Amino acid sequence: MIQTDLIIIGAGPGGYRAAEYAAKNGLKVIVFETSHVGGTCLNVGCIPTKSFARDAEIIQTLNNAETFGLNGLDYEFDIQKVIRRKDEVIASLRAGIETLLSHPNITLIKAEAQFKDAHTVTADGEEYSASHIIVATGSVPKTLRLEKPAERRVLDSSDLLSIGELPERLCIIGAGVIGMEFASIFNAFGTEVTVVEFLKECLPVLDSDIAKRLRKSLEKQGVTFHMQSSVTAITKAGVVFTDKKGNAVTIEADEVLMAVGRAPRVFDHFSKAGFEYSERTGIAVNEHLQTTVPHIYAIGDVNARQMLAHAAEMQGIHVVNQILGKTDEIRLDIMPAAIFTLPEAACVGLSEDSCKEQGREYVCKKSFWRANGKALAMNESEGLLKLISSPQGDILGCHAYGAHAADLIQEVSALMCRNTTVEQLAHIIHIHPTLSEVLHSAAES
Ligand code: NAI
Repeated sequence: MIQTDLIIIGAGPGGYRAAEYAAKNGLKVIVFETSHVGGTCLNVGCIPTKSFARDAEIIQTLNNAETFGLNGLDYEFDIQKVIRRKDEVIASLRAGIETLLSHPNITLIKAEAQFKDAHTVTADGEEYSASHIIVATGSVPKTLRLEKPAERRVLDSSDLLSIGELPERLCIIGAGVIGMEFASIFNAFGTEVTVVEFLKECLPVLDSDIAKRLRKSLEKQGVTFHMQSSVTAITKAGVVFTDKKGNAVTIEADEVLMAVGRAPRVFDHFSKAGFEYSERTGIAVNEHLQTTVPHIYAIGDVNARQMLAHAAEMQGIHVVNQILGKTDEIRLDIMPAAIFTLPEAACVGLSEDSCKEQGREYVCKKSFWRANGKALAMNESEGLLKLISSPQGDILGCHAYGAHAADLIQEVSALMCRNTTVEQLAHIIHIHPTLSEVLHSAAES
């Protein structure tokens, strides 16, 4: 039996950051990982899609070249080069994580760890025991149980990131975060993209007015949306669904992307540890990410709280602080998020819709990209920001879409963590000309 201070199962952003932080603080850590380090985020999620999104952004700029005084530009799109660049970005970051995990206090074991009991895991026939265990096993794509001929392949986002050739027609099931990002990217790549979504509006996390504007923007760029539509079958030809009027419609497609959510990655051996979990809701945790077995914690997608890489990272740091007996001021309730479409969207805290649902009094201040000097200079005049506060001026949230919306929302996040009011924000000097003035203008209005 090998004894250590902390066992971490999974080396995604939750697991590897927790390991690094614990090791720097003197804990001996063993990390188990069956695949590449970096998890979904690095290998088949955030990072590769951002590499693709950058390609898409360049293509969009090239398609508008004449606006910038560049007449007669021509280019040839090479998906293989796009994929190679993406793989190089991943490889470089993966090497960085492997270096972090080579810390003398960390042992990385490339094997599947299975719980034997609440203090022991087994891997490759060896037993390991620790006083604390962090489960950070991530999530897997959900799929719809639909009729489908054997010859029709249905892709998940990982498959699409390594696709051999650019599909002419892509049908995406689900207008959530993954669906919208891939719709935006492949539309820019030149694919004919159709999105079929069950709900009335895309991106339920986002203010519905902003979500609608973003959808309309992608529509204008060429993406076709079928909202309030329920997929009934996948055929050799494409995707069959019932539209909002009750008509059966078939969308012909060369490739189909299933993007209907992700499910926590749980395993039967979890039952040997004795904590509560389910396939649908993941591992049950309290506000300190502690499972129902107090020395075992679950961080990241597997607890199904917020399936975001930065949520996993900060949950991990918070857990390690507890193990070390340290207090911290990490506000896990203030969780910014971004959707990297063109233009991007981002949010933190409450939206107008959630205030209304909660029957809460609020003030909504708006600001538009079209009134911002830098945005016009960049030819990025599309965008709206809504700053939500209490009648007393406490910032409750901010939702936006427009170029670099994520950077603006990050500022609001920082201010919310420090309980800054809208009036105080209006008194903070913002550099001119920058997009950050969109936020400042909202606060001043
Ligand atoms: P999601 O939960 O964001 O969206 C799934 C969408 O599929 C929903 O709009 C839902 O109504 C729709 N849907 C479900 N069943 C359907 C059906 N039968 N027919 C048509 N539509 C249907 O899930 P998504 O986009 O797969 O993303 C998974 C997770 O990954 C999310 O938790 C997301 O936060 C995370 N993620 C985060 C990113 C970011 O932060 N930029 C990027 C990509 C993923």
